[in-house]
Amino acid sequence: MTNPTDEPLAEAGYRDVPHAAGGAAGRRWWDANAEEYLAEHGEFLGPADFCWCPEGLREQDARLLGDVSGARVLEIGAGAAQCSRWLVGEGVAAVATDVSAGMLRAARRYDAATGLRTPAVQADARALPFASGSFDVAFTAYGALPFVPDTARVHREVARVLRPGGRWVFAVTHPVRWAFPDDPGEGGLVVTRSYFDRRPYVELAASGAVLYAEYHRTLGDVVGELASAGFVLDRLVEPEWPAGHDRIWGGWGPVRGARLPGTAIFVSHLPG
Ligand SMILES: C[S@@+](CC[C@H](N)C(=O)[O-])C[C@H]1O[C@@H](n2cnc3c(N)ncnc32)[C@H](O)[C@@H]1O
Repeated sequence: MTNPTDEPLAEAGYRDVPHAAGGAAGRRWWDANAEEYLAEHGEFLGPADFCWCPEGLREQDARLLGDVSGARVLEIGAGAAQCSRWLVGEGVAAVATDVSAGMLRAARRYDAATGLRTPAVQADARALPFASGSFDVAFTAYGALPFVPDTARVHREVARVLRPGGRWVFAVTHPVRWAFPDDPGEGGLVVTRSYFDRRPYVELAASGAVLYAEYHRTLGDVVGELASAGFVLDRLVEPEWPAGHDRIWGGWGPVRGARLPGTAIFVSHLPG
């Protein structure tokens, strides 16, 4: 069988693809692109730093996870585990998970470079290999959720592995961005699509194989999925673009950051 990542990109756009193909593309794409992604963004993220988003909000300042001293903390879609590694450096019992072996290889390299051993497990966020009630807090900074067609499954899995009263905090692209082109300049300020169009952005090979898929949920969809999984929403944080922060990250940058939210961070908990 041909490995779809060996096939060149033939077309890109917004269209429905089978859920199984879209969900599986994430693992292959991140394996193939882990090093390139880290070469581009690794310095900004730092090997052991907890950065929530391209706006540069850091957990050290925001404290969205609450008091994690003595807590068992799970990160899903951890990438090279920079956030978990920062927590480990703070003495927190954090476990990083990611579906991509390429990302976890980079995590081991960062461990060696920093001297901080970060427990890391290869896992799809939709099927977490942990017993029910194993963690006090779970989080992700842009991991897993944008790349799966069935986010409701992720919220249910996180609810399962958290203890009653546990906290779930996740950062995603602000849903309003879906309506705008992925352009960090003035072109990215003009609405060109419907915010309500849930078809994913996909990249396809000539054979029709899905090389990359990114999914959109409206704010209402996210709140509905959270509530269905049993979570109570405490806060929706929309980090503002800081003055003097000039770094462009894909469609994020100071021009749009001055006028549009780029990140939505949902802070939620399970009833105790
Ligand atoms: C944008 S990175 C976020 C990680 C890290 N916070 C960062 O900024 O580099 C997205 C991560 O989600 C992971 N991912 C994609 N689909 C996943 C899934 N189904 N389950 C777990 N992780 C997944 C990718 O492998 C990748 O490491």
